[in-house]
Amino acid sequence: MRPALASLLAVLALLAACASPPDLATTAQASPPVLAAFRGDPPVTSADDWTSRRAPLLRAAFLDGVYGHPPLLGAPVVEARETLTLEDVGDALVEQWTVRLGDPALNRRFHMIVASPKGATQAPLIVMELFCGIRSAIPGRPEAVFEDKAILPGPCRSQTLDPVIKVILGKRISGPSIAEVTGAGYALAMFYAGEIVPDDPVLAPPALAALQPDVPADRRAGALAVWASLYSSAFDALTPDPRFDPARVAVWGHSRHGKAALLAAALDPRFAAVISHQSGRGGASLSRSGAGETIRQITDEYGFWFSPAYARSAQRYDLDIDQHQLIALIAPRPVMLGSGLSDTWSDPAGAFRAAQGATPAYRLFGSSGLTATQLKNDFRPADDLAWWTRGGGHGITTADWTAFLQFLDAHLKA
Ligand code: GCU
Repeated sequence: MRPALASLLAVLALLAACASPPDLATTAQASPPVLAAFRGDPPVTSADDWTSRRAPLLRAAFLDGVYGHPPLLGAPVVEARETLTLEDVGDALVEQWTVRLGDPALNRRFHMIVASPKGATQAPLIVMELFCGIRSAIPGRPEAVFEDKAILPGPCRSQTLDPVIKVILGKRISGPSIAEVTGAGYALAMFYAGEIVPDDPVLAPPALAALQPDVPADRRAGALAVWASLYSSAFDALTPDPRFDPARVAVWGHSRHGKAALLAAALDPRFAAVISHQSGRGGASLSRSGAGETIRQITDEYGFWFSPAYARSAQRYDLDIDQHQLIALIAPRPVMLGSGLSDTWSDPAGAFRAAQGATPAYRLFGSSGLTATQLKNDFRPADDLAWWTRGGGHGITTADWTAFLQFLDAHLKA
């Protein structure tokens, strides 16, 4: 491992271990109240008010102020579907799909690992964006699986780092156990959104500009808006296949992809459920919470994820929206928010407060929203706003996947 990377990972682990634990008592409630009058729109008192008046206003507010308006990516065409012969996948049928977006001349493609239980028809489907590309999701990184190292984050380029990454970020950071997930009756589609907009401050801006040639730079959508749209492109590509039930498609994302997953479901009503794990700032956590990563920090480091408008709000958060309203846009569909007690950078208490703040919108639809009352040990998988916390820091563990499947079982199999 390169020394710089090793020390960076060590410092991150140390910071996580030393930071003071998230504290609800010192974290403010979400504001503005989700049903209160907003930009001249009177208070919301019914599900119909919400759907017809408030939701469109809020969607536009998030795209204007935080993420930018996602560009049209072009209709998906499945160009290739190969069956992969893999070990340790139980009875699953595992394929690699190549999906083209729009005109072939645009050369816009992404690859998916699509795994389904043997003989599946109309199975519930989990659509996932991955951190390190699809090859690293398969143990042994088989050659047959697509990989373009140039667009992967540095630490993901070398297989030799995989064991270190797993120790720091959890056994399931690169991908779930295909055998376990398909064994539980779910189909799985995993892709790397960086194939369309690389997760890189140098490579992303030209890719974003090419997708939005007519939009001035100071109004362009950031990478998260495109990554969110890619969940919908995956939905379009996958759901004509009778193995998958279009009414039971869940989006799943961790951290930056947890931000994209929430946005995807807020914009696309076809997603039946969301799992957003440790999504933090710009995701489930309130921008005004005051704990964890600041807007200045996230927009300095990852400005290309957002619309430039979000960075402009960094000095003093002066937007009239906050992330509980993004969660509310998913109501009454089930959302699971995952967190780790030592993952203070992602501000678990700010996410809990956001789930509380979104709950009145869920109640309009007869759902109880969040009923958990504390950060720790209060997982209620059947809640429409389900709150999951474990000990430990940022990453994905086997315990996380057990909880994800409990949540999905409660909502997609009931
Ligand atoms: C960085 C970033 C977070 C993000 C995280 C991740 O830590 O500051 O906002 O959620 O990366 O995606 O793992």
